[in-house]
Amino acid sequence: MGHHYSDDTLKLLLVLPLLFCFLVRSSNAVSSLRSDFVVSWSPNNVRFLGSHGDALQLVLDQNTGAGFMSKDRFLFGNIDMQIKLIPGDSAGTVTAYYLSSQGNKHDELDFEFLGNSSGEPYVVQTNVFSAGVGGREQRINLWFDPTKDFHSYSVRWSAKRVVFLIDGVPIRVFSNNEAVGVPYLRSQPMQVYSSIWNGDSWATRGGLVKIDWSQAPFIATYRNFRFTNGCRASTPAAVSNCLHSSSANKLDAASWDPGFDKNKLSWVKRSFMIYDYCTDVARYPTAPAECSREF
Ligand SMILES: *[C@@H]1O[C@H](CO)[C@@H](O)[C@H](O)[C@H]1NC(C)=O
Repeated sequence: MGHHYSDDTLKLLLVLPLLFCFLVRSSNAVSSLRSDFVVSWSPNNVRFLGSHGDALQLVLDQNTGAGFMSKDRFLFGNIDMQIKLIPGDSAGTVTAYYLSSQGNKHDELDFEFLGNSSGEPYVVQTNVFSAGVGGREQRINLWFDPTKDFHSYSVRWSAKRVVFLIDGVPIRVFSNNEAVGVPYLRSQPMQVYSSIWNGDSWATRGGLVKIDWSQAPFIATYRNFRFTNGCRASTPAAVSNCLHSSSANKLDAASWDPGFDKNKLSWVKRSFMIYDYCTDVARYPTAPAECSREF
């Protein structure tokens, strides 16, 4: 009689490696872009790479830009994406990576990467919308070339504050200033979006430098999306659960504080900030209330 396994043993042997893969995947919370995101604009210009859709590319050519969005909505948490921006001559292109809720009083957190001629610096513009009101642009230069390699662009979002980070370095903090009448982002779950498009009417040197289509296609690459410490909240019941219940899924909304390194933030502001709405007196003769109460 030959050596053989029972049916149950066979099943176990088949299932164990799968279970292992699942545990490894879920423990580091990195998702497959193909399973967590859908194409929102121009399927022909969105490429999933790798057998599991581990990476994704958005392509801008003379016909169209492209975009993707997450299937789920998120309420609070750490939201990380690694992005490699358009190499070479990217003047006139805009790569937007952002979180947004829906409706006319929407909340939104933006990273917008403004391309440039070869060798000239990319600019990162951030913006915050709360209850439908934005107009809070800040711009920084980067301390590295974002087209040579992947870098992580993150949002740490709690009921107390939003911290924008690049490679773990805080570049911006938007605190909860409801106490002085500034609406804060704390009840509307947001989806994650990215898109790439022609912004040459304004993006590079105020619109002076246009896209050179002979350099097309323009390609940005994404990988390692991670979501931790928050709630996937796609229905009103799930939102309420996140905010109020004591279930395992509960977000400790009242006490979680992402924290940030104040010295590093001042280093970024001192060395790399090129525009801040808070100091734009032509636009805001009286600075918005949150400006004098940064943290
Ligand atoms: C592009 O490069 C020019 C020249 O170095 C710089 O003034 C500008 O801020 C850069 N970025 C954008 C988006 O215009």
